Order: sequence, then C-alpha cells, then structure tokens
Amino acid sequence: MKWSLTRTKWATIFAALVFFVIIELLTELVSRSILVDGVRWLIYIVLFLIVLTLANLAFSIFERDQTEKDTYVRELEYRRKLEEEANDEITAINEMVNRQLEELMRMADRLKDAYVGTINMLAIALDERDSYTHGHSDRVRRWALAVGKQMGLEGRELEDLATGAILHDIGKIGIEDNILRKPGPLSSDERAKIETHPVRGEQIIAPVKELHPIIPIVRNHHERPDGHGYPSKLKDIPLAARIVAVVDAYDAMVSERPYRPAMEAEDARHILREVSGTQLDAEIVQVFLQHLYEEEADGRPEPR
Ligand SMILES: [Fe+2]
Repeated sequence: MKWSLTRTKWATIFAALVFFVIIELLTELVSRSILVDGVRWLIYIVLFLIVLTLANLAFSIFERDQTEKDTYVRELEYRRKLEEEANDEITAINEMVNRQLEELMRMADRLKDAYVGTINMLAIALDERDSYTHGHSDRVRRWALAVGKQMGLEGRELEDLATGAILHDIGKIGIEDNILRKPGPLSSDERAKIETHPVRGEQIIAPVKELHPIIPIVRNHHERPDGHGYPSKLKDIPLAARIVAVVDAYDAMVSERPYRPAMEAEDARHILREVSGTQLDAEIVQVFLQHLYEEEADGRPEPR
C-alpha cells in the first residue's frame, strides 16, 4: 500500500511537469493553428493521460527494480548472519569435541597403564610361582621383540608379540605345584597335564577381548614345524608363536630346572641348530642365534 501511494505521487508530479512543458509547446503551436477550443482541450486531456500512464509505468519499473535490489541485499545480509552464527556454533562444537577427545585420550592412557600393569603383575606372579623360572617371561619378551624386529614386525604386531611372550605360559597357573616343581622326570599322565597349559592359557585370556590378538601365541607356542607339537599338531604356525617357541626353548635350556642344572649357552645353541626345521622354525633359529652373537660382540650380557 505504501509502495503504491509513493509511486502515484511521484508519477503525478513527473506527469504534471511533462504535461505543462507540452502545453507550453502546444500553446505556441496552436496559437498559429486553426483548431477549435474543444478539440484543443481534448488533445490536452488525452496527452495528460498518456504522459501520466507512461510516467506511472516508468516509476513502477524503477521501484520494482529497487525493491528487488533491496530484497537481494537483505537476503545477502541474512545469509551472512546465518553463516557467522553457523561458524560460531561449529567453532564451539569443535572446541567441545576436542576437549572430550583429550579427556578420552587421558582415560585411554590410564586404562592402557592399568592394562600393562595387570599383565606385568600376572607375569611376575607366574614366574614367582616357580622359583626356577624367575624372570623367564621378561627374558622371552625381550628376545622375542629383538627377533620380531629382525623379522619385519612393527607397531601393533610387536606390541602383541611382547604381550604374548610375557603371558605365553599363563595356562601353567592351573597346573598343580607337585607337577610344576617336580624334581624328577614326569610320568606320562603328568606330562599330559603339563601339555594342557596352552589350551588352559587360551581359556584364561579368552574373556578379555583386548588379549585376543595374543591367543595364537598362547595356544601355539608348543606347536612344531614338523607337525609333532601340541595341542593341535599344527604345521602352519603363526609367526609370533614360532618366535616365542624359539626364544622360550633357549631360555628353558640355559635356566636351572628342578630336574637339571642350567645348560651352557653354547650347548643350548648347538641344540637349537639340531632341532632347527623340525622342532623349531629354521629361519627364526638363524635370526635368533645371529642376535645372540651380536649381543656378545657388543659386550652386552644376555638378558637374564
Ligand atoms: Fe609353554
């Protein structure tokens, strides 16, 4: 309504101005013509209406363009405001997400510390149960890591290898002391019971989802490449289990046992070579022996 009145007002003023200019010109012209007064006034009125219509139409187009321009500018400003508000909200959400992520990472670090601490506690408890194997789990872990790196393992694979090396004998927790610490040779029944420890170990760690990657190590570290191992006579043995088998066998030989004294390192290495390819993986035995000789050459004591 407001737009229509403004347009009419301006159109009338413009039409009046144009009309009076035309009147002046026509007066000059008619004063020298033969037209009668009636026809002359009719021409004036028609001209006035034509000029008024044209002026109204011109201003209508101008005001419509102006209105569209104003609407476009208002829309642009509205969109810019919306974008600014959206950017502010996105920044606030990002900050909130970053804070929550940092908190989650702190919680994950604490959980990981607790997890690693629990595993080490289990390994110590396991070793302490049998005074003859004191430090066995840690030595197996350190040697297994050295061999694993040489064999190309990295990242999570190495972490799982370390954890599996520490807990590979966790199933022995379920074996009676009189068998585990027996000073003499084991009977066939006792040996059968000892040989249940890989499966017992798998059953112990199965409820802990985070430990599932080490199940192949715990279950298969007594399997043999010639298929005469236990518990499954597996020939296609996972790499990590083959590594643990080699370093575990060596540490068992150079450690004092209830039924025999500790073996000399060179004698143990000789036995490793003898069973290479049948009882133990040939390539891993070679890598491990090379590592032991490099340790000696560097003057580093064996990890005991
Ligand atoms: Fe074992």
